[in-house]
Amino acid sequence: MPEKILVTGGAGYIGAHVTKVLLEAGYDAIVLDNLSNGRGDFVPDGRLVVGDIGNRAFLNHLFAAHSFAAVCHLAASIQVGESTLLPSLYYRNNVANTLTLLDAMVAANVKQLVFPSTCAVYGAPSIQPIPESHPLNPISPYGATKLMVERILQDYSRAFELQSAILRFFNAAGAAPDGSIGEAHEPETHLIPIAIEAALGLRSHLKIFGDDYNTPDGTCVRDYVHVMDLAEAFKLSLRYLQREQTSLTLNLGNMQGFSVKEVAETVMQVSGRSFDVRVAPRRAGDPPLLVGSNQRAAEMLGWTPRYSDLNTIVRHAWQWHSGERLPVPNPLPPSAISNNLLGLPY
Ligand code: UFG
Repeated sequence: MPEKILVTGGAGYIGAHVTKVLLEAGYDAIVLDNLSNGRGDFVPDGRLVVGDIGNRAFLNHLFAAHSFAAVCHLAASIQVGESTLLPSLYYRNNVANTLTLLDAMVAANVKQLVFPSTCAVYGAPSIQPIPESHPLNPISPYGATKLMVERILQDYSRAFELQSAILRFFNAAGAAPDGSIGEAHEPETHLIPIAIEAALGLRSHLKIFGDDYNTPDGTCVRDYVHVMDLAEAFKLSLRYLQREQTSLTLNLGNMQGFSVKEVAETVMQVSGRSFDVRVAPRRAGDPPLLVGSNQRAAEMLGWTPRYSDLNTIVRHAWQWHSGERLPVPNPLPPSAISNNLLGLPY
């Protein structure tokens, strides 16, 4: 029997890629998503349960109906800028609802979790590439919520022997090379899809948020990691937890940084289209430079990014966006929802 894995947020951008990789590896992945941001059509038929991780009674039914070996918990609010404006939403979704999920897991004796954290836990770091040992000092509510969950997981590990793989993502980017799924946020705030929308003529221009940072060309530098490589790390983490029966915390970076200007140029090159680029004021909560070490991920998981080249990352993103109609919020083919996964009559 293949192991059954619950993927919360599995209809979202990263969650859908994680689900795809797990299914391809032979896991029996079941997605739980409230479709507040995710897309039902990203989830293979019969694998989606629509519901909320903050609803304990609902989770009790779900855990009673399935024998999950582990949970990959990707359901979260993810925008740094928005988190500075709506902190309550972030603390509720990312911390309070995660506690509800963890308690339901413990009650159901599901003791392994893969949790995506973020480079935002480091704040504005002083060392690049950033090692996991760097001091943790988030400068946004988003980063603070992820760090709080990291600490909660340490406490749950001691109290309930819950083992977790904490994966601190750098900038997720790209799309499945087969063009089946890609990055679709509503509204979109991420650099690569926005630049692609400008190349497709769906936006009049790309705004660069600040060109007066202390970086080589004055624009912010980020470490873009292919979403399929991040998804691969979930698979490797599940295997690690099963094999080693102990927790771990890792950075998932590419060890190379690209500036906003370099990304805009790469999108122009890959798409063969130029677009208007305008300098705008800095965006709140943006550190100048974030590049992540992946040494520990290589040692502990054997993880090395397969698609580390920015051109390839942008090419896969471009293929998906240019093949995609304009994103429709939450389109949901009826065949995608499988209420019987929950063992309930609704
Ligand atoms: N940017 C622009 N114009 C845009 C959009 C983005 O100039 O229209 C810039 C941003 O200011 C930033 C860079 O492009 O310097 C990348 O921005 P994204 O919004 O694509 O991604 P973030 O760097 O904000 O997000 C990443 C991770 C988060 C993490 C955060 C920490 O995805 O998980 O870094 O700051 F929390």
